[in-house]
Amino acid sequence: MDELGFNKIAGAILATALGVMVLRTAPHIFIHSEMPSTPAYRVGPLEVASKDDAEPLPFPQLVWVDAMDSTRGLKVFKKCTSCHNADIDGANGTGPNLWNVVGSTAGVKDGFKYSNALVTSGKTWTYEELDGFLAKPTKYVSGTNMNFVGLKKETDRAAVIELLRLASASPLSKPTPQLVENESTPEAEVTPQSLNLETKEKDHGGEVH
Ligand code: HEC
Repeated sequence: MDELGFNKIAGAILATALGVMVLRTAPHIFIHSEMPSTPAYRVGPLEVASKDDAEPLPFPQLVWVDAMDSTRGLKVFKKCTSCHNADIDGANGTGPNLWNVVGSTAGVKDGFKYSNALVTSGKTWTYEELDGFLAKPTKYVSGTNMNFVGLKKETDRAAVIELLRLASASPLSKPTPQLVENESTPEAEVTPQSLNLETKEKDHGGEVH
């Protein structure tokens, strides 16, 4: 390659580089840009409603009440029988006898040595308290002696609680399912009555007689 040819190529490269430089700076010359003091939008952690944020639904829900099945409860109760029985006048074991426990005060079975934690919890074994306790005993009553992982499934809890409910000379009635108001429920319908039109009509359009 002769010297002229080399210069041509070098020149072309230089021109291209220069062109690129100009193009890169040019917009900044023509367009004045400064960061606004308040950004138009902010990038931050997105607020995503998580399961933990959700308000717990009122207790009990229909699924829970529907799952109150003593036959199934008897099966679930097999997880408890190493420590408990629910027989009338049944003996205490590692855990207290559970006859008549639904609706009773926590930690009152005669002859059983409860933990301080349970006795001082001041709990009454309502359906809701039992459900919470059986879900995770050691978390629900911290310091309890009931060394049991808990029943993860609410339907298992409802079933075994039904069994306990029936382990009584006078079982309490089943709880009423709590219906949650649906936010998308349409507003009350507008009727002539709700607008007081009927009254006005009776009053002959509001005229005083
Ligand atoms: C490893 C033994 C063990 C197992 C398994 C166990 N429990 Fe218990 N449970 C205990 C002990 C011990 C206590 C007393 C806790 C305390 O004093 O803190 C207790 C207490 C209770 C109480 C409160 C009784 C009262 O008089 O206040 C209920 C209700 C109960 N258990 C139900 C169950 C059910 C239902 C199951 C099975 C799903 C179960 N437990 C499984 C040992 C056990």
